[in-house]
Amino acid sequence: MPYSATPRLGFVGAGRLARCVARAWSRAGYPVAAIASRSPGPARELAGQLPGCRVVDDPQQVAACSDIVFLTVPDDKIGAAANALQIDLSKSGARAVVHCSGATPVDVLAPVRAQGGDIGGFHPLYLFGGVDGDLARIQGCSVTIEAAGPLSETLTALARALGCHPLSIPPGGRMLYHAAAHYAASFALAALSETVSLWQQLGFSEDDALRAVLPMLAGTIETAREKGLAGALAGPVSRGDAGIVEKQLTLLDSLGGDHATLYALMTRRAIGLARRRPVPPSASALAAMERSIENVLGARDGSGIPGPGQQGGE
Ligand SMILES: NC(=O)c1ccc[n+]([C@@H]2O[C@H](COP(=O)([O-])OP(=O)(O)OC[C@H]3O[C@@H](n4cnc5c(N)ncnc54)[C@H](OP(=O)(O)O)[C@@H]3O)[C@@H](O)[C@H]2O)c1
Repeated sequence: MPYSATPRLGFVGAGRLARCVARAWSRAGYPVAAIASRSPGPARELAGQLPGCRVVDDPQQVAACSDIVFLTVPDDKIGAAANALQIDLSKSGARAVVHCSGATPVDVLAPVRAQGGDIGGFHPLYLFGGVDGDLARIQGCSVTIEAAGPLSETLTALARALGCHPLSIPPGGRMLYHAAAHYAASFALAALSETVSLWQQLGFSEDDALRAVLPMLAGTIETAREKGLAGALAGPVSRGDAGIVEKQLTLLDSLGGDHATLYALMTRRAIGLARRRPVPPSASALAAMERSIENVLGARDGSGIPGPGQQGGE
């Protein structure tokens, strides 16, 4: 049986993600019926911005007055929260429970399915800061949906109501999907922290470094949007400047730690992109870069990972 066009939504957890999606869905005409959270303060604050929304103490009370319950708690709390919910399809309460984690299998909601409820995963590919700006910034992002039948259709509509693109993921694919997504979020920050830490050796403050590098990153993103990853590639690898790559590897190696290892692994990925360019650099230049990379990685333990005491940077 299909869900109502505007099902009643409930939330367990009033954190960064819930603050954005509950408000966006309420504005889009979806009734947010109830919120329960560990601390009452954030739940009250969020409910105060949602017409008709109640704050309740017990997640079961959320299930009693919603059609779909979103478990927006930390990942390691999802299983226990799902386990504690009772689904009674003969009553007017929840018929679906959904979590928003990218990495947690949807099967963690199996206790709900065992009671006849629908289960699903709804993972917005966005880094929520818990700020008002999230509501505008989430538009244009993608939401990865893992669900079947009518719930899948409803979650797809909910993704569109956020201004997002729905993206379907096969069962069991979440761990790989989420591991890979780090490169566009926390690992992008980790890469920037390497820039900042190396530039600090030249006397740049973190503020100066970020002021300089963030517009460059924004420009790179725009160019990638226009020309694709291989087309947007710039820097010595794209030009076949093997001499520069070798000198930079040698310099970073001399700093100790794992600076050269990180540079070598990223350069290896950049060489892969360079090969896909309409006019790739010469094969001999790319081969020379690969030899320089091997010189660094081979000097480690064979895995490219520095040994004990060789961890770098900050
Ligand atoms: N943040 C992101 O960028 C992002 C992006 C995509 C997906 N997600 C997913 O969204 C989910 C929520 O993440 P978040 O970043 O919004 O987390 P968060 O900001 O840490 O918020 C978690 C909320 O859950 C509450 N909570 C914790 N344990 C609870 C329990 N046992 N019962 C009821 N409420 C409980 C917390 O209460 P307190 O106020 O007392 O701590 C808090 O309100 C996670 O599955 C996460 O993987 C997050």
